[in-house]
Amino acid sequence: MKRKVYAACELPAEAKAHLEEHFDCGYWTGPGPIAADQLREAAAEAEGIIVTGTPVDAGLLEALPRLRAVSNLSVGYNNLDLEAMRRRGIIGMHTPHVTDDSVADLTFALMLAAARRVTEMDRFVRSGKWMPGPDRDRFGLDVHHAMLGIIGMGRIGEAVARRARFGFEMDVLYCNRSRKVEAERKLGVVYSPLEELLQSSDFVVMLAPLTRETRRMMGERQFSLMKKTAVFVNVSRGETVDEAALVRALRSGTIRAAGLDVYEKEPIAPDHPLLALDNVVALPHLGSATARTRHAMAMMAVRNLTDALVHGNPRHVIPDL
Ligand code: DGY
Repeated sequence: MKRKVYAACELPAEAKAHLEEHFDCGYWTGPGPIAADQLREAAAEAEGIIVTGTPVDAGLLEALPRLRAVSNLSVGYNNLDLEAMRRRGIIGMHTPHVTDDSVADLTFALMLAAARRVTEMDRFVRSGKWMPGPDRDRFGLDVHHAMLGIIGMGRIGEAVARRARFGFEMDVLYCNRSRKVEAERKLGVVYSPLEELLQSSDFVVMLAPLTRETRRMMGERQFSLMKKTAVFVNVSRGETVDEAALVRALRSGTIRAAGLDVYEKEPIAPDHPLLALDNVVALPHLGSATARTRHAMAMMAVRNLTDALVHGNPRHVIPDL
């Protein structure tokens, strides 16, 4: 008899076919995201689950006595209670590497859009207010040759730094839990303590994973250290930022603009004060959202489950932070 697994998220046909070779599979088909009680019921017999963003907490683990592996279909894993999983001997895996370039591309899309006021100017053109005459009030900021500060120098940070150094000829500072000597050598990036990075950068990009240490690491004081002309970009997790402090910094001119893909609460409410600001470019958490990357992530997520449960050789295990 095949072992049971449950995918609580959408999967492409090729990923389902791979799973079905090895497992007796159940799939969530919506509508909307699966609720906690639905997952408890649907995955009650499962030895493995695939989730994307769905909270996996001690209560859920308690309800899934056979569970041995959780395959998170995303590179971030703040939805998983890793401590509770460890206590029960449940392995957690995620989908790193395959997202790096897509997330780095989107980081640059947000930097460029916020600096050159792309979405604001799009609204301006559509409003019919564009008249012949001076355009000084539509000037933006240069990205090329500016100073970029990267918070969190993992693989995505390196992909952003590569674009910055070799595409836009920027100088790059980074801060990270540990020095990245190889990245410094290959990419010419320079390690900097956070406060100095904030003071010196024209663009500050948040790429650190959400952990106890990084929760709300950007707050009132950190924004006050940034240049008045600086742009803040977040493609990591919304909770790394004190959103109320960000709103105040953007309203008061403490910083110039922000490009955001992630929020404290997602989906962000349409009447959220951030969305009333013209100097904010807001996207609906699209970092990895290209057809090719999402397909690669899905294939990695299903292979992670077979590697762990069938071959006894788990890969892409979530690191112990
Ligand atoms: C991830 O995979 O964690 C990204 O946030 C998706 O965009």
